[in-house]
Amino acid sequence: MESSELDGAVRVQVPGKVNLALSVSPRRPDGYHDLTTLFMAVSLYDILTATPARRGRLSVAVAGEGADQVPRDMSNLALKAADLLRARYGVAELGAHLSIEKRIPVAGGMAGGSADAAGALLACSVLWGLDVDQPELMELAAELGSDVPFSLMGGCALGTGRGEQLAPALCKGTYEWVFALAHGGLSTAKVFADYDVYSAASTTPRLIIDGLMTGLASHDLQAVRNGMCNDLEHSAIRLHPPILETLEEGLNIGGVTSIVSGSGPTVAFLCADEDDAVELSVGLSSFPSVRAVLRARGPVSGARVLSAS
Ligand code: C5P
Repeated sequence: MESSELDGAVRVQVPGKVNLALSVSPRRPDGYHDLTTLFMAVSLYDILTATPARRGRLSVAVAGEGADQVPRDMSNLALKAADLLRARYGVAELGAHLSIEKRIPVAGGMAGGSADAAGALLACSVLWGLDVDQPELMELAAELGSDVPFSLMGGCALGTGRGEQLAPALCKGTYEWVFALAHGGLSTAKVFADYDVYSAASTTPRLIIDGLMTGLASHDLQAVRNGMCNDLEHSAIRLHPPILETLEEGLNIGGVTSIVSGSGPTVAFLCADEDDAVELSVGLSSFPSVRAVLRARGPVSGARVLSAS
């Protein structure tokens, strides 16, 4: 590789997500669960910068909250994404250094790892000048993880299959969210395993999700609130009991409704407006069960390039 090819950096941002609805079917023979889920991308972004590296070297550095829990070896999902991309569309000599600034909670049920994988796919495809179109990126994303395609796509979407089959959902206006981070994280696989033992079948009728989608399309906060549901909530609480206090007590301060985000343990509060969100954030920050409080808006766009030099 010529030295001139080692110039440049590609910087991308990728949002976290919240599942407004998460209906989980029994485990499939391949170990995954079929889902019906309504994703919304929210304005908590991981920033990933890819710079060229020589001789096929792939490396990663991670900074920000929870960075110490993110692996630096090839089990890192962003490195796996870069490796998959060059194996499929490039040549083995292509190398990159990925620098990740974490703002999405680590192991928090907000698809932080998936965001980094989506970011690596996008950044490295630009860095390496690969001719990869959006449908091809989405296919690679699905190979890397169930939430990675949504991290690329953003907005609001209905997810089926294991969550990787996406259809855009109409969403009018924006929503104010407050996220209460827990002390510690939860493994998605462990939460699904607990669900197998204690729940086995979804308790969420499709009608509920249809009502939620109608509410989103017309910005009917009450309908959205009535439709919010998460089949994994009981399992997340069983594995991390303090979530229950956050879920219930937070509502006394003023959240419109509260829900465990994905597989948890982050608790998401949908607020009526910005004033409510501010008041709730202040109140939640004194809870012993809450490690930190973050505010965000949704929906926002998926992975996008901020700069390329
Ligand atoms: O797809 P991803 O690698 O992010 O999933 C992590 C784990 O979560 C899987 O290994 C599986 O145990 C569980 N999972 C599941 N059904 C899904 C998505 C994830 O059982 N639809």
